[in-house]
Amino acid sequence: MVRAVARIDLAAVQRNCARLKSAVGEETELCAVVKADGYGHGAVACAEAALAGGATRLAVATAAEAEAIGRGYPHIDLLTMGALTPEELDGALAAGAAVAVWRPEFLELVAKRARARGNAARVHVKYDSGMGRLGSRDPAEVMALARACAENQDVELAGVWTHLATADEPESEFFDEQLNRFDAVVDAARAEFPEVTIHAANSAAVFRDRRSHFDMVRCGVAVYGLDPFQGDPADRGLHPALSLRSYVADVKHFEPGDSAGYGRTWRAGAETCVGVLPLGYGDGVRRGLSNNAEVLVGGRRHPLVGTVSMDNVTIDLGPETDVEPGDEAVLIGSQGEETILAEEVAARLGTINYEVTCGVSARVPRVEG
Ligand SMILES: Cc1ncc(COP(=O)(O)O)c(C=O)c1O
Repeated sequence: MVRAVARIDLAAVQRNCARLKSAVGEETELCAVVKADGYGHGAVACAEAALAGGATRLAVATAAEAEAIGRGYPHIDLLTMGALTPEELDGALAAGAAVAVWRPEFLELVAKRARARGNAARVHVKYDSGMGRLGSRDPAEVMALARACAENQDVELAGVWTHLATADEPESEFFDEQLNRFDAVVDAARAEFPEVTIHAANSAAVFRDRRSHFDMVRCGVAVYGLDPFQGDPADRGLHPALSLRSYVADVKHFEPGDSAGYGRTWRAGAETCVGVLPLGYGDGVRRGLSNNAEVLVGGRRHPLVGTVSMDNVTIDLGPETDVEPGDEAVLIGSQGEETILAEEVAARLGTINYEVTCGVSARVPRVEG
């Protein structure tokens, strides 16, 4: 019996990477994105499984993440995708990570710090083709930065890249617009720097359009078996890797009118039994799931009733239940024939599966299995 645990199926991570690799083919590298502790799944263990499944590179967002991953995998090409303060830059370089660059001043700083370290820094010049976040919007500036890298012995031009804003919206024409804009930059970059790694695609783009694959794809959500389009991962041959499990700590009899939880937001309409599970929003079970979720016990779905507390939730087991204290409860994942997907939880919350798994808090141990 475990109060709350996130079980991580590393074999699923491995299979998902093999699936992604088969989708992109031999010519395109798979870079597994393991930022935010591997989307809540545990970055180090998932990195290992992703590499076993065919990923040849890893990416993170922050310097601290680069340091954590770089320590474990010094031989793997690692990219820090996010913005870095000068202090963070030192951390990322010390971790052996390549860094993202889109401003001349930052490139100068990278060169200076790399020179001080005595090791050339690998940089990926970022083009903002329409995401409107990090990157230079000016193709001429992107090329100027690429040339500046090539001319500076303290930096090595390793990549030219962009990020797509609407790959997961099948109707969006902006996806093609961004690729068209990027194509022009790619043509210029390839002409001058044939060795450079060109990359654009996230998970959704991998499934959507081969045109986005280039030399490498950066996949996060699909690595963990989550559907980038918020549908059923099985439809794309993906296997969810995370399940969130707890147990029934108590079962009590309720008379009509008895209430469960803060604010008495739920009252029994008839005699019933209520199960108490010892986890709550302190574990990442969002309060928005109050009276708005189902939980598996004994292979059946039971409605979550009342308000989600920090450390407890309550479920309606019905008047004649065989559920007993100690029985396993599943908030995300499978039990018997039933499955609750992170996508279902996300839809109930009006959010996306990414936020659901990232939201499983640090209080919940990640355990392989
Ligand atoms: C720059 C960048 N590339 C790639 C990814 C991976 O995207 P996905 O998880 O949709 O595959 C992310 C994730 O947000 C990202 O920020």
